[in-house]
Amino acid sequence: MANASGAAMDKFQAGAFTHKSSGVTYKVFARDKQAMLSFQSARDPQLNTERQLDYFLGSGHLGITYLYSVQGYLFESPVAYYSASQSYDMKPGLETLTALPPALPMQSACMRCHMSAVQKSDPGTVHHYQGLPFLHTGITCEACHGDTRQHVLTGGKAAVVNPAKLDVPRRDSVCISCHLEGDISVERPGRSAIDYKPGDSISDYLSYFVYEGKDATKRGVSEIEQLSLSKCKRMSGDKMSCMSCHNPHYTPRPEERASFYRAKCLACHTDAAFAATHHPENPDCTACHMPRSGAENIPHVAWTDHRIRKTPETALAMQDINDGDTLTAIFSPQAGNRDLALAYYNAVLDGNTALQDKSYQLLESLKSEISNDKDALAALGVLSEKRGDYKEATMTFEQLRKLDPENLIALLNLGVLRAKSGDLQGAAALLQPAFERNQDIVGLAKNLATIQCSLGDATAAQKTLQTTSQYNPGLQDVQRLLVEFSSCPANKP
Ligand code: HEC
Ligand code: HEC
Ligand code: HEC
Ligand code: HEC
Ligand code: HEC
Ligand code: HEC
Repeated sequence: MANASGAAMDKFQAGAFTHKSSGVTYKVFARDKQAMLSFQSARDPQLNTERQLDYFLGSGHLGITYLYSVQGYLFESPVAYYSASQSYDMKPGLETLTALPPALPMQSACMRCHMSAVQKSDPGTVHHYQGLPFLHTGITCEACHGDTRQHVLTGGKAAVVNPAKLDVPRRDSVCISCHLEGDISVERPGRSAIDYKPGDSISDYLSYFVYEGKDATKRGVSEIEQLSLSKCKRMSGDKMSCMSCHNPHYTPRPEERASFYRAKCLACHTDAAFAATHHPENPDCTACHMPRSGAENIPHVAWTDHRIRKTPETALAMQDINDGDTLTAIFSPQAGNRDLALAYYNAVLDGNTALQDKSYQLLESLKSEISNDKDALAALGVLSEKRGDYKEATMTFEQLRKLDPENLIALLNLGVLRAKSGDLQGAAALLQPAFERNQDIVGLAKNLATIQCSLGDATAAQKTLQTTSQYNPGLQDVQRLLVEFSSCPANKP
């Protein structure tokens, strides 16, 4: 796990490819001991940009992706190196684009399982970091043992967390914090997942939800969910944990793998006569009871069947995980209606619009309890706006702005609502400072520039669009607006 991320040059793969449907050529190369990415387009000769790649992410089993930053905004490269094909290709989801995509923001929530000591982004921003976005690459001792520096500084007096000595929910939290995602996870009120520390209970920070009614064995699920279905775990209870089979300090080499895990099985299955006579032809218990599935090309899905079934079957079937409409909490004893409402809201943001009413009704019924809850207010505001209830949306976003004056969701939406009501000056006054902190967000830039042009200020509108182009070169709609806003007659509606 120590190699989960690092400096880009530590895991560098040179390569180039031309993406057919967009006509963009991507090149990853080294110059002066720096990893670089360039993009060029045969269709748009103007597009000729280079980025310095700072970090890699991914141990390389599936592949490698790189991170870069521009003026403190952290991004993920749109192309990744795939181990299976030993070549570069577009990131999943970007394959069918017909142009260079907008820059991909890299958020703390995404890094927290791959890096160590991940920092919060600057206030009012999505992914802008004044300093380093994380203090260490890879998974360090701290990820499981807490603050070891204090331990050293105090000559051993400040205790290091020993996961094995924690109570069961806290012990299990150490692995769950990075090895469970569910279909949707929701941060608890006022909590941020990156503040979780070993010794805490992860359910104080996050609630996990899955779509109900799905055969859990058919979804692409985590090792944790699968293990909880196994007879070994159900019959052993709290005695069994991830550590019953894994040593977090040691990954067995391929040639010792079979005997390593066999010893773990036999620590519980102690009947020596059974061990001696049960399939002596194959010492690898896992070959039959924990086969590998075909999911090895999908990140964040278990490859090894952790259900430990008696009768070996063929690989886990995979199914679309996104077509249910009832969410239930898993491994989250504290999840209540507020978390459930936000889980539905996240499903709506993921495109499952059928869940909009469910989420809205839950939030509406909790209105008196969420007056200090930023995430819940943001959701209620957005859902009210989607329903066309601009009055409630405005009130909710104002409430949110009072709690958090730089809140991006509040500023963005209030700006648009004010513009809709004809108050262009008021709209610009909200969007301008939000844009100064989030210059790479194209939608924000386009809204602001449109308002600036309507106010007759072509210079400001041009500047806004040019600023966002620094981060998002070659976007056709931005180019189009730049031409359109070259003159802005005042009082244009
Ligand atoms: C800070 C996040 C984090 C925590 C905490 C964490 N893991 Fe991991 N783990 C990862 C990442 C990321 C990978 C994959 C990257 C890699 O292979 O380097 C991984 C890989 C693994 C692997 C497979 C590859 C290997 O290195 O053996 C096992 C097994 C594993 N973790 C078990 C555990 C167990 C057991 C715990 C709890 C004691 C745990 N992990 C805690 C992030 C974490
Ligand atoms: C909840 C913790 C968690 C979060 C959040 C998370 N990952 Fe992962 N990721 C893992 C673990 C653990 C593995 C390795 C084993 C696995 O696939 O389950 C992994 C594997 C990967 C791999 C494959 C690496 C390889 O070994 O080849 C990539 C790429 C990846 N993650 C990218 C991302 C990106 C991009 C994000 C943000 C959108 C992200 N991850 C967010 C935990 C996480
Ligand atoms: C992925 C999680 C993880 C990481 C990373 C990790 N450890 Fe551990 N460590 C554990 C767990 C779990 C135990 C308890 C094992 C057991 O007793 O079953 C443990 C036990 C220990 C112990 C024994 C503690 C005692 O009181 O007996 C020491 C020492 C230790 N780890 C040192 C380190 C150091 C040093 C690093 C960094 C190089 C590190 N660990 C990284 C999970 C981790
Ligand atoms: C923490 C203890 C523990 C460990 C470790 C463990 N098991 Fe089990 N296992 C049990 C218990 C308890 C049962 C239920 C009673 C029984 O059948 O013996 C069980 C049941 C089983 C069953 C029967 C499942 C069924 O559905 O009838 C199989 C197969 C099995 N274990 C295989 C394994 C293999 C293979 C390993 C190692 C990869 C392993 N176990 C590791 C405790 C454990
Ligand atoms: C009964 C033994 C057993 C237990 C308990 C167990 N694992 Fe595993 N795990 C394995 C085996 C065997 C592999 C395959 C290792 C290999 O092929 O080298 C594996 C592989 C993994 C991997 C690599 C990705 C994959 O799916 O192949 C991760 C990550 C992992 N386990 C996490 C966990 C976590 C987290 C827990 C606790 C919820 C856990 N495991 C509990 C036996 C176990
Ligand atoms: C070649 C495949 C294979 C290997 C290797 C294998 N098993 Fe099994 N195991 C099976 C099959 C098939 C069954 C179910 C039929 C039976 O009871 O023999 C089974 C059944 C079991 C059961 C349930 C027994 C019962 O009476 O309900 C346990 C426990 C078990 N195996 C553990 C292990 C352990 C531990 C190892 C490694 C020491 C192992 N198996 C190796 C195929 C295998």
